[in-house]
Amino acid sequence: MKTTILALSLCYIVSLSSALLGSDKIGINYGRIGNNLPSPYRSIELLQSMNVRHVKLYDSDPEVLKLLSETDIHVSIMVPNDQISRIASNRSEADQWVNLNVLAHYPSTRIRFVLVGNEVFSNNDKQMWLDLVPAMRYIRKSLSELNIHNIKVGTPVAMDVLETSFPPSAGKFRSDIPAQVMRSLMKFLNGTRSFFFLDVYPFFPWSKNPTTMSLDFALLKEGNLTYTDPNSGLIYMNALDQMLDSINFAMAKLGFESIRMAISETGWPHEGDIDQPGANAYNSATYLCNLAAKMSYEPPLGTPARPGVEIPTFIFSLYDENQKPGPGTERHWGILSSSGRSIHQMDLAGSCPAGDKGEARHLAKPVNNRPYKGKIWCVLATKTMREVDLAPAVEFACLQGNATCNELAPGGACYTPVSIVSHANYAFSSYWAKYRGDGASCYFDGLAVQTIVDPSHGSCKFPSVTV
Ligand SMILES: *[C@@H]1O[C@H](CO)[C@@H](O)[C@H](O)[C@H]1NC(C)=O
Ligand SMILES: *[C@@H]1O[C@H](CO)[C@@H](O)[C@H](O)[C@H]1NC(C)=O
Ligand SMILES: *[C@@H]1O[C@H](CO)[C@@H](O)[C@H](O)[C@H]1NC(C)=O
Ligand SMILES: *[C@@H]1O[C@H](CO)[C@@H](O)[C@H](O)[C@H]1NC(C)=O
Repeated sequence: MKTTILALSLCYIVSLSSALLGSDKIGINYGRIGNNLPSPYRSIELLQSMNVRHVKLYDSDPEVLKLLSETDIHVSIMVPNDQISRIASNRSEADQWVNLNVLAHYPSTRIRFVLVGNEVFSNNDKQMWLDLVPAMRYIRKSLSELNIHNIKVGTPVAMDVLETSFPPSAGKFRSDIPAQVMRSLMKFLNGTRSFFFLDVYPFFPWSKNPTTMSLDFALLKEGNLTYTDPNSGLIYMNALDQMLDSINFAMAKLGFESIRMAISETGWPHEGDIDQPGANAYNSATYLCNLAAKMSYEPPLGTPARPGVEIPTFIFSLYDENQKPGPGTERHWGILSSSGRSIHQMDLAGSCPAGDKGEARHLAKPVNNRPYKGKIWCVLATKTMREVDLAPAVEFACLQGNATCNELAPGGACYTPVSIVSHANYAFSSYWAKYRGDGASCYFDGLAVQTIVDPSHGSCKFPSVTV
């Protein structure tokens, strides 16, 4: 059995070059947290030109749903997190939601999934955890009372739903989530033959340990590197299968051995900050093309623990979303730039050039696959500088305490030159150096950027981060 899986996996990698988006197994997330994105009308034109068959939305925007009714694209819509508790506590609210967001568009818009909430267990609202499954049940009841039976109800979760994920056989759900919540979620998904939707990114475990995990293993690349799970004896050839199976094992521990998995988000960022290795277009194209080949392979490959099972997959994401906070990668998951061009220089409706060798050789070789070693400062991003926004950003940085801006006071080493630009450079560097360990980003809504050029001048020494 195991040798068969191995042979199959090798075979798809060497023999298949696949279309990125034309497959019925691959869909795409249409996130819209940006102020420079093409209109919904243009976006749906672009989806059609790329042969997209499935799109996942983060809401149920009536304009988008109306436009999609003119296409044969299948659609996944979402109940926002902030409506979960209300729906869970009042059946009429579920009816109302379904009437307004499903019935108003269905069946001319081919809605196939209603996802209730987004990464609910990644957020600290414990009442929402408790309300999740009751809300899912109500939504499903409202749908069936309208005789709508081919829309599945699910909820996407992130890998942080697990407290142990390695080796895959040790996969176990977090113990701070009440066991009853996970059990009733499993029961609902199993009973309704829905999917366990997972947001899963090999980029994250790799980028945390880029020297211990092989990049090829994370990029789903052809190779002879395997990992044998010591408990199950299962052989893994890539990080994605490991992550998927850690969920499969966690579900099995609750007695659910056959809930199907779906990947609600996966991808690889094509750009990031200096302290984020591996975020480049080359890796991103490689990952996406290998993913498309793997997930659209016939017969389905499944995972080592669940061989032969199809895994519907949504790529993250259609566009770069320039209004997402956080580190640089957050704004660079798109396959299209804001002008609608392919970021990976691929014909997205055609076949993937990564193809047979699992390499995006049409793109320049990446230079940031190894972690940068040295000092980094955080300074004003001159390209995007808006002086009017600087004062509040500097004030924010300096108000965090811990002497962040002491040197900027009259008499301080960095007081002169007395200009908002000069003070902002110092304040950003100082703030980031102090708070990076607590998760702070060098971003300031686009005003700040990392640099390896020391901005210190005279006796004014800028604090830096050493990586
Ligand atoms: C339940 O929701 C309906 C529809 O929004 C509303 O009219 C009704 O007052 C709500 N009932 C309770 C008990 O909140
Ligand atoms: C899951 O669903 C299957 C098929 O409906 C059923 O046979 C099985 O008993 C269910 N498993 C659990 C643990 O409820
Ligand atoms: C694995 O690949 C390397 C490089 O391609 C090769 O030198 C080595 O012999 C291979 N090992 C096995 C066990 O096939
Ligand atoms: C100062 O920095 C430490 C460590 O980063 C942090 O725990 C503490 O909360 C900070 N103090 C203030 C006033 O922000």
